[in-house]
Amino acid sequence: MKHIGEDPKERIISRFSNHVSSGKAEFFKSVNIDFVFGRREGPYVWDVGGEKRLINCHCNGGVFNLGHRNPHIIQALIESLGELDIGNHHFMSEQRARLAEKLAALAPGALSYSVFGVSGGEAIDLAIKLAKGYTGRTKVISASGGYHGHTGLALATGDEQYRAPFGPNIPGFTQVPFGDPDALAHAIDETTAAVIFETIPATYGMPVPEKGFYPFARELCSRKGALLIIDEVQTGLGRTGRLWGIQHFDTAPDIMVIGKGLSGGIYPMSATCFTDELQTFFHKNPFIHISTFGGAEVGCPVAMKVLEITSDPAFLEHVKELASFFKKSFEELRSKYPEIIVGLRQLGLMMGIEMVNDLCGPVLTKVAYDHGVLSIYANNNKAVSQLLPPLNIERSVAQEIIELLDRAIGDTKRFLKLC
Ligand SMILES: Cc1ncc(COP(=O)(O)O)c(C=O)c1O
Repeated sequence: MKHIGEDPKERIISRFSNHVSSGKAEFFKSVNIDFVFGRREGPYVWDVGGEKRLINCHCNGGVFNLGHRNPHIIQALIESLGELDIGNHHFMSEQRARLAEKLAALAPGALSYSVFGVSGGEAIDLAIKLAKGYTGRTKVISASGGYHGHTGLALATGDEQYRAPFGPNIPGFTQVPFGDPDALAHAIDETTAAVIFETIPATYGMPVPEKGFYPFARELCSRKGALLIIDEVQTGLGRTGRLWGIQHFDTAPDIMVIGKGLSGGIYPMSATCFTDELQTFFHKNPFIHISTFGGAEVGCPVAMKVLEITSDPAFLEHVKELASFFKKSFEELRSKYPEIIVGLRQLGLMMGIEMVNDLCGPVLTKVAYDHGVLSIYANNNKAVSQLLPPLNIERSVAQEIIELLDRAIGDTKRFLKLC
């Protein structure tokens, strides 16, 4: 047990270590990062203990797409708290009905039904349950290096490193290299219930697939009787400059999963959206899936506000303009630091800074932190640092991010002695 001292910040760290996670506390100490989220507003977060300020370019993978404590989101929640609470998950609900109707109007293809959850992993689990239940098949194909969450079926689609301590994987789950049509064609067969991909795999370092990859996967799934599940937990809600990342590939999935940003950074909400045809499964089994807090009524107006903001063409145009600015700025940084920067993987503001080796991501994460930018390396490809600023930042903040990264990349190069 850590001694609880006098210094207020030390007390937080000791309490965290004693009662939440001693391993995390030890890890952050070892890398000399003692940041504890204190005041937060827009793209910024301040350390609870002092002056240090970070520009949030991690955004929890999209939770803070609209910045911290967005006033429109807060207002939506305040109004909602005036009359609602969690509601009842068995009964019919006006708020869930309205939110699902709005999603049906905005979703790609014909996804007219939605079931709500609390986390992305939960919504992925439901997508896979639905695929298995509807098709009566058991095989599920996902991408090596992909990530869909740490819950049961989501975990089963992911990398070995996250599953190894928990015994044998659930039978039927298999992985293929991402974006490889031949590997997918080879793996899929008449036992395949679903093929599941993140539109752009974030934890794998944002590789953007060929334009034809998803149309190919779509056609292949239809031909083999398998369902195509698209995970838009990170790429959805405007991140790529369109409302849904998959729209760049002119592909309509059978099931789409969203989470993170749907919360507005304020009230947890995820959704599994699916077609009329698939809802026939739930029609026969309406009580087969339950989530007490999923689609909590008080949170539905918050998610509605998120959809209203992110589907506005002017909002999406702003994302595209920022994306062009980052593209141009990174071309300049690449010319300035050719020994370290390989390129920018990018679709809108879904960005990954690709560097020369696996040491670069972790080192840049720390050095960027020291310079005031929170940007975390991709865990399944450490040569890439994820760059996910809020979507509504001013151009001046984007400029500041580039200036700070310029210095951080220079320091990373010197630290790793890359010349
Ligand atoms: C693409 C993707 N899918 C699913 C998840 C799981 O979401 P959650 O952590 O809310 O369970 C994540 C989380 O990082 C994610 O990045």
